[in-house]
Amino acid sequence: MAEFRSRRSNLAVPGSNPRFLEKAKGLTSDQVFLDLEDACAPLAKPAARKNVVAALNEGGWGDKIRAVRVNDWTTEWTFTDVVEVVGGAGAELDCIMLPKVADAAQVQALDLLLTQVEKANGLEVGRIGIEAQIETAQGLINVNSIAFASPRIETLVYGPADFMASINMKSLVVGGLHPDYPGDPYHYILMQILMAARARGVQAIDGPYLQVRDVPAFEEVAKRSAMLGFDGKWVLHPGQIDAANAIYAPSQGDYDHAELILDAYDWATSEAGGKKGSAMLGDEMIDEASRKMALVIAGKGRAAGLSRTSSFTPPDS
Ligand code: GLV
Ligand code: MG
Repeated sequence: MAEFRSRRSNLAVPGSNPRFLEKAKGLTSDQVFLDLEDACAPLAKPAARKNVVAALNEGGWGDKIRAVRVNDWTTEWTFTDVVEVVGGAGAELDCIMLPKVADAAQVQALDLLLTQVEKANGLEVGRIGIEAQIETAQGLINVNSIAFASPRIETLVYGPADFMASINMKSLVVGGLHPDYPGDPYHYILMQILMAARARGVQAIDGPYLQVRDVPAFEEVAKRSAMLGFDGKWVLHPGQIDAANAIYAPSQGDYDHAELILDAYDWATSEAGGKKGSAMLGDEMIDEASRKMALVIAGKGRAAGLSRTSSFTPPDS
């Protein structure tokens, strides 16, 4: 998991609103997802599909990852969403996000449909990835097989609002801690998703925080999942983007330190450095496990575009 495309902030944009679609192009999120699901009223879905196809084909998204969230398989819309969006703008699309994934079969069904639509439209087969939203009790108990269901899986995404409804949680504050619970009620869920994502080698993405004007509260929630190892989080408002980009990247100090560990360990294990399996970096002992931790932080920093502000000097030179 050292190198990957950065997904620190994933901006939700309702497909039904052409003005928001246009505005999103100029924002600094790592990813956008154009929503045909819950932010799009049933009567607005046919027009939203057309808006989304037009917005993708118009371009102007820079190097953002471009995803479209289709409707889940229990609705009457999923098939048409995929056929219209991928058929109309498949070459301009990186991922399809599938909400409320219940089991591996639902991912496989999307994979098969994508393959047909890619073939029918002369697109490269298998290029479009799948982002699987885990937002029901059933999805969570099947998360491990969902993670391994298709080579197209790129992320597992926590959907806290639907999840809270799915387990009858007695709260309306999505993602926030609750005074009646002496801990983090989401810890178990986040860890299950993270373990499945890491075992499969894909990214783990935290879901939305709905109090969009309260950026400090967003930061508090984001810091918790970032600390566990999550790679990014949804943002629902431009004001949340900078916070997510900063929180899911390592600090400059940690990034510099990680790069130093990599250089120092590389040198220590070399002929010139004495072929040592463990070594000192200042007052810190480093070994192969330190290298692995440093690779994670350095990978996140490089993906976020950080630059080093220090360099390694071998002790004897
Ligand atoms: C997102 O889809 C959520 O349900 O939180
Ligand atoms: Mg949801």
